[in-house]
Amino acid sequence: MKSVILDVDTGIDDALAIAYALNSPELEVIGLTTCFGNGPIEYTTRNTLVILEQLGKRVPVYMGADKPLCRPAKKFPTHVHGDDGLGNQVGRAPFMEAENIGAVDYIISEVKKRPHEITIIAVGPLTNLALAVKKNPEIVSLVKEVVIMGGAVFVKGNVTPYSEANVITDPEAAECVFSSGLPVTVVGLDVTMQTLLPNSTLEDWRASGTDVGQFFADMTSFYMQAYETFNPGIGGCALHDPLAVGVVIDSGFVKKEKWNVKVVLEGEETGRTVAHAEGEPKIQVCTQVEAETFLNHFLGRLF
Ligand code: RIB
Ligand code: CA
Repeated sequence: MKSVILDVDTGIDDALAIAYALNSPELEVIGLTTCFGNGPIEYTTRNTLVILEQLGKRVPVYMGADKPLCRPAKKFPTHVHGDDGLGNQVGRAPFMEAENIGAVDYIISEVKKRPHEITIIAVGPLTNLALAVKKNPEIVSLVKEVVIMGGAVFVKGNVTPYSEANVITDPEAAECVFSSGLPVTVVGLDVTMQTLLPNSTLEDWRASGTDVGQFFADMTSFYMQAYETFNPGIGGCALHDPLAVGVVIDSGFVKKEKWNVKVVLEGEETGRTVAHAEGEPKIQVCTQVEAETFLNHFLGRLF
């Protein structure tokens, strides 16, 4: 069993990733750390607590960064995740609250307490992880593995033609993480755009007759409609964040190549993740995915 810290900016695919991780016996999610990204930090933290309550799970949640390392925050992607970040399905406030210590201090303390045991799965902007490395560089040699959803190495971006959302939201944080020497695996658009959740899934979830199935179907339908609007005929929505979890559960879902990935920090191509053959550190870039195998595994685990 892998001990996991899941760093999220809970929006809709983050919520699907949380459900997948918490329903997978291969993982022990010891903590959830939150970041701004798909909404303000207050929303993404609230949303994480809402999803835990929907799932009937109690996992400590640690509130993190509310803005990028050194540039102004971009407009939140409400057109993809809804005004509340969960497809406008948030009703009442959650009963659960976040813990008293912050995400960055939690990451540092947990990694130092359990050297070479903690896998960090980061599916939002990399601000929390970058702040943790800057505050305590020794954690670089103590983290077991880092798997991130982010980047578009050999394919076009989803925010600009060059850049993927998590990276362009905080390019300096991504560059810090990629150059730190952390053992990073990049699960980018190169593979996540191949893992589409079919539209028909929502009816299956509704047919389950459970409140959580209904909630997740109603939440995900907003994301589905956004994908159909921006990619007419696509027939589904991308399981970006769940695939990062899937790669930790079973790395056999993907093929990886070692590249020195650097982030463009200025100009028209800001946020682009560029693969260099020369130079260090080498990180693992996912270049192929067994999409149907992964999708079936994900669906089999969800509820
Ligand atoms: O580009 C997709 C990524 O940006 C996903 O993590 C999604 O949740 C958003 O954060
Ligand atoms: Ca995310």
